Amino acid sequence: MYINFWYPAEQSTHITEQPLKLRMLGQDFVLWRDSEGVAHCLSNTCTHRGGSLGLGIVKDDCIQCPYHGWRFDGNGNCVAIPSLGPNPNIPGRTRIDAYPVEERYGLVFCFLGDLPEGQRPPIMEIKEWGQDGWRHTTQAFEFNFSFQRSMENGIDPAHNEFVHDTHGFKGQREDYFTPEVIPESTEWGTGFGGWLEAPPLPEEKMREASGRDVVAKMWAGTGHEGAASLWTFIHPSEHMHIHQYAFECPVDEHNVRIFLINERNFLIEPEHDQRMMDRNMYTIVQDRDVLLQLQPVETPETNDKEMFMPADLCIGKYRERLREWEARGWRIDTETVKRNEKKVAYAIPSPARREHKGWVLDAIPLVEPDGEAAQLDIASGA
Ligand code: FES
Ligand SMILES: [Fe+2]
Repeated sequence: MYINFWYPAEQSTHITEQPLKLRMLGQDFVLWRDSEGVAHCLSNTCTHRGGSLGLGIVKDDCIQCPYHGWRFDGNGNCVAIPSLGPNPNIPGRTRIDAYPVEERYGLVFCFLGDLPEGQRPPIMEIKEWGQDGWRHTTQAFEFNFSFQRSMENGIDPAHNEFVHDTHGFKGQREDYFTPEVIPESTEWGTGFGGWLEAPPLPEEKMREASGRDVVAKMWAGTGHEGAASLWTFIHPSEHMHIHQYAFECPVDEHNVRIFLINERNFLIEPEHDQRMMDRNMYTIVQDRDVLLQLQPVETPETNDKEMFMPADLCIGKYRERLREWEARGWRIDTETVKRNEKKVAYAIPSPARREHKGWVLDAIPLVEPDGEAAQLDIASGA
């Protein structure tokens, strides 16, 4: 898991003036909305005796710890210590890590890291958001597999015709092959796209909308942005476009929460929303059933513990990016966290740690960069 990215915490409508305790990157956070409607996100651990802020209440726009009533504002500053009586002199070291929050696309994103504003990787853009002629649906899923396994499945073109019958031949065509993957890099990601032979869409309404009832070439592309966001564009016909954006959040090393925003430019009347969501659910369950059984549960640390084929090129590129971010010191040292979990409460370092010294909670341990990027060995198949 990696710090210094924007992660989707929840749908905007789920963040209210009631505190919500959420786990992300293996740590707990508390989120709430103040009376102006502004959402806040703090580390969940109270700096007094380690109380769980998410079990407290919101008072005067601040979160109040359920143990001794200390109160923290949205910037993480302690503003009340009842045991000190009126007009207390509150030490700065009581401060709690507060994380930048942005609401976009109906989701609450938290920047979990300490990078200053100008250096942060952006939230993946949805160009169609709010545009005429497009309609979106939002779905949330939580699965017991790692975000990395999930991400790699998203940029894996060779599984489609074996796992999904909705847009492939489901392993029925002897002469089928995965078109060449030519990865294209962006500042924070890698993607690819190309033309592939596709059968007519199985569902009647969708087939009608595509205007195609024969096998034909269809354009599809996919890619990742940052550690945990995916885009997939499927164009079953020239005028029928499905653009999917998956914002993933590692709950911990072995669990992931996924917010899927599906944009479409056909059947845009609201009565077709359920049809699209059912279709997405159908395919994501097919992926889930495969991903739940992968061994090992975590992606191997080195690429030589699996075989790579040309169709896996984008997965290899994604792993190279992860290693670059590890080399910047962004990867959480989960082994050390696990070893100490009963003894040490950690916090993901927030941007304020670069301005203030003296924090009660230790910053989460990060993997020491070893500077060696692994080389991907792609088998030619010859
Ligand atoms: S533990 Fe939070 S106020 Fe004491
Ligand atoms: Fe899939």
